[in-house]
Formats: sequence, C-alpha cells, structure tokens
Amino acid sequence: MLRTTADGSKTLYSEKFGQHYHSVFGAETESLEVFIQLGLLEATRKFKEINLFELGFGSGLNAQLSARFAQEKGILVKYTGIEAYPVEEAFTSSLPEETAALHALSWNEPHQINPWFRFRKIETFLEEFSSEERFNLIYFDAFAPESQPELWTVEVFEKMAGLMVEEGVLTTYCSKVSVQRNMRAAGFKVEKHPGPPHKREVLRAVKMAL
Ligand SMILES: C[S@@+](CC[C@H](N)C(=O)[O-])C[C@H]1O[C@@H](n2cnc3c(N)ncnc32)[C@H](O)[C@@H]1O
Repeated sequence: MLRTTADGSKTLYSEKFGQHYHSVFGAETESLEVFIQLGLLEATRKFKEINLFELGFGSGLNAQLSARFAQEKGILVKYTGIEAYPVEEAFTSSLPEETAALHALSWNEPHQINPWFRFRKIETFLEEFSSEERFNLIYFDAFAPESQPELWTVEVFEKMAGLMVEEGVLTTYCSKVSVQRNMRAAGFKVEKHPGPPHKREVLRAVKMAL
C-alpha cells in the first residue's frame, strides 16, 4: 500500500510486518537525515570510495537518494542491498520514476546507475547472506525491533561487524537502549544523534579496532 508522508514523499506499508518502510512524518526527510547525512556523508569524510551495504533494499528510497548524492558530490559509491521480500510490481510501478527504475533492474547483477553509483540488489535473507567483500558503510534498515526482534540481536550486529572494515560506519533509525547495548556488545562505538521529526534520537555506530 502506497502512502504519501508529511513531507510529500511516498512510502509503502507492509501488511506482513504491520510497518511502514519509512516514517509517515516524512519518508525522504528520515532517509536523508539518518542514512545520507549521518551515514553516507560521514563515511565520505573517512573513506575515498564508499562500499555500502543495506539491510534491506525495500522501497528503494535509501538507494535512490544515495545514487543522487554520489552523482552530486562526485563520490564513487558501490551499493549492495539485500531484500528477503521484494515489493510487488503493482506497488513499485507507482513509486517515483527514479526509484521505480531501480526495481525494474535484474537481481544479483551489478548495474551502473550514473557514473558514480554502482548498484546491486540481492534477493536473500540476511541470515543466509555472506560476502568476501568488506563494507565501510551499512544502512541498517530492518523493520523495528517490535516486529523483527531477531534482527536486532548481538549476533546480528556481530555479523554486521564481520562484514565491515575498521572505522566503518553503521546507521539506523532505531535508538532503543537494548539495541545500543547489543551494538556495543558486538564491538561498536555507539553515538546518539538528534532524529528526524517525531524521533528524538537515532544511532550511528562505528566499528572499533579489535
Ligand atoms: C524498513 S524496510 C527497508 C526500507 C528501505 N531501506 C527503503 O529505503 O525503502 C525493511 C526491509 O527489510 C526487509 N527484510 C525483512 N527481514 C529481512 C531479512 N531477514 N533479510 C533481508 N531483508 C529483510 C523487508 O522486506 C523490508 O523491505
């Protein structure tokens, strides 16, 4: 189900998880603040090129805004997004054109979206995903712990740390104390930052040296 949010941007609702893909108080505002500003922009201060992993690709909004950022700033971004439950075409076709275009691309293959943004979406469950690659940025964008508690555990954050380089950056919209604790237990330094509308705080975590 497609929904227009408070800033005029669109998001989807998942019947399966009983959750929206982004904040109804502003989908694009949330994505820009939590993932682009706090994550991607910060990563560009530390790394010359960005190797980005996203859990999960979802509506494609974070990916599309990242492609736009990469082109505007002239920064190379290589994006890998995984998705266990791809959105049906009936919904993706009504998303904005640039986002719908990402949905129309084939799975499991690299695509050059613009000169600065290389895109790959993989249809898989996080539990089954492994990679030889090491990422310097992760968008941790699972549905909330209330609906997916199994994805916010120490074990899952350890898996994230295992996919990352030292000093790699992970951001998420969820700032629950138990999530912060699980991140720290997995070897992250956790920072709280002011959140988008109707969200007091969001998190940026940095993988510490062992
Ligand atoms: C909050 S939405 C992501 C929103 C997305 N980042 C965007 O920009 O639209 C969470 C996504 O994680 C996916 N997901 C849920 N469980 C998963 C799992 N175990 N492995 C991979 N993806 C999963 C959901 O299907 C959903 O698309």
